[in-house]
Amino acid sequence: MAMLDGVASIRDLELEHQRTFIRVDFNCPLTEGDAPEVADDTRIREALPTIRLALEKGAKVVLASHLGRPKPGQPDPKLSLEPVGARLSELLGVDIYFPQDDCVGEAARKVVRELRDGQVALLENLRFHPEEEKNDEGFARQLAEFAEVYVDDAFGTAHRAHASVHALPRLLRVRGTGLLVEKEIAALSKLLDAPEKPYVAVLGGAKVSDKLGVIEALLERVDALLVGGAMANTFLAAKGVEIGTSSFEDDKLALARTLMDRARSGRGGRSVELLLPVDVMVAGSTESDEGSIYDVQRIPRGSMVLDIGPRTVELFARRLAGARSIFWNGPLGLFEKPLFAAGTNGAARAIAAASESGAFTVVGGGDTAAAVHATGEDVASKIKHISTGGGASLELLEGKKLPGVEALRGARS
Ligand code: ADP
Ligand code: 3PG
Ligand code: MG
Repeated sequence: MAMLDGVASIRDLELEHQRTFIRVDFNCPLTEGDAPEVADDTRIREALPTIRLALEKGAKVVLASHLGRPKPGQPDPKLSLEPVGARLSELLGVDIYFPQDDCVGEAARKVVRELRDGQVALLENLRFHPEEEKNDEGFARQLAEFAEVYVDDAFGTAHRAHASVHALPRLLRVRGTGLLVEKEIAALSKLLDAPEKPYVAVLGGAKVSDKLGVIEALLERVDALLVGGAMANTFLAAKGVEIGTSSFEDDKLALARTLMDRARSGRGGRSVELLLPVDVMVAGSTESDEGSIYDVQRIPRGSMVLDIGPRTVELFARRLAGARSIFWNGPLGLFEKPLFAAGTNGAARAIAAASESGAFTVVGGGDTAAAVHATGEDVASKIKHISTGGGASLELLEGKKLPGVEALRGARS
């Protein structure tokens, strides 16, 4: 894994009696209400192997994460990590020491100072301090006082140059990756460096503009690009297809045309097959409780495209069946509503089936991962890698350097 050359692994670090700061990404969805609970604990579960390994090695573990996007400098009790600590304690089977209110300051210092080997503390939401997102050196110094060793297991945050992932690790001479970061980079960099061909990507979601970098990068590598979701509306509109009142980006039509041309002309004579929906599920509005299937050439003027249709699912499934590598980002419809989830579920099943035939299959993106789990655990368990990163997985596939990984280089192991 070239991306991790020169970076130490937690496997190689001496952690006995060491206060070990593990940056995790516990940015989990919470339930609404006065006493929020963790609604999806995937990111906590995925960090357990690293935490367990640190404990086995005799470390004193200090965990830290952000949660949500609090207004800078305004601690928001609704975004406290306390419910995350409660869930972590259940999963790990140990008590979690949680200094209230503030990730730095006297209470946090006391908890960390009194930690014994094999014990775990979780700090409060790092983003309650505006210095976190500013990559502030002074704030990083306060965190650095809590540990001798730094471990980065926050893959979902690796694309952010924030204090706890960028300034902090460089202040601790002993630093390295956690097991989740290693697993994520191994899976995703396989698609970047040497994907087995045919390589097929499925893209959907809300906007072309959100995903421009990754579309361009994928066009350089894939054999086929299957596009659905609201993103496909922009491509269809760019081809002059009537898409009714569907959401699309009218300032991205020229760009969509350029991308379609680029796919057609390809690089070095190699063109990329770009498949758009041939039929769609439409409704009067996102609130409708009834939908109808139309050929894309016959979309009624007053209606909205909210999912791909069954012929498109068939078409995509056929293309996916022959693939050896698959990457999927972006739901293919408004999957949060069961009425508009058939296309997304169909794609998930087709990708799971390709996995069973030996394809290397990777899913990235917060909503896409949720959609795969919503399709069913029998489907999710067949996908080879479901990334815990949204933006981070896309930036990695764009070939961008991840600040969280770069900050780990040049350390003493
Ligand atoms: P990810 O988080 O996996 O990267 P995105 O955030 O890009 O995915 O997109 C997910 C959102 O796109 C979902 O909320 C989904 O409902 C929405 N979406 C997909 N297709 C459509 C559509 N045809 N119309 C409206 N919303 C859509
Ligand atoms: C994520 O959920 O993608 C990460 O935790 C990063 O969160 P952010 O987009 O608020 O920086
Ligand atoms: Mg999303």
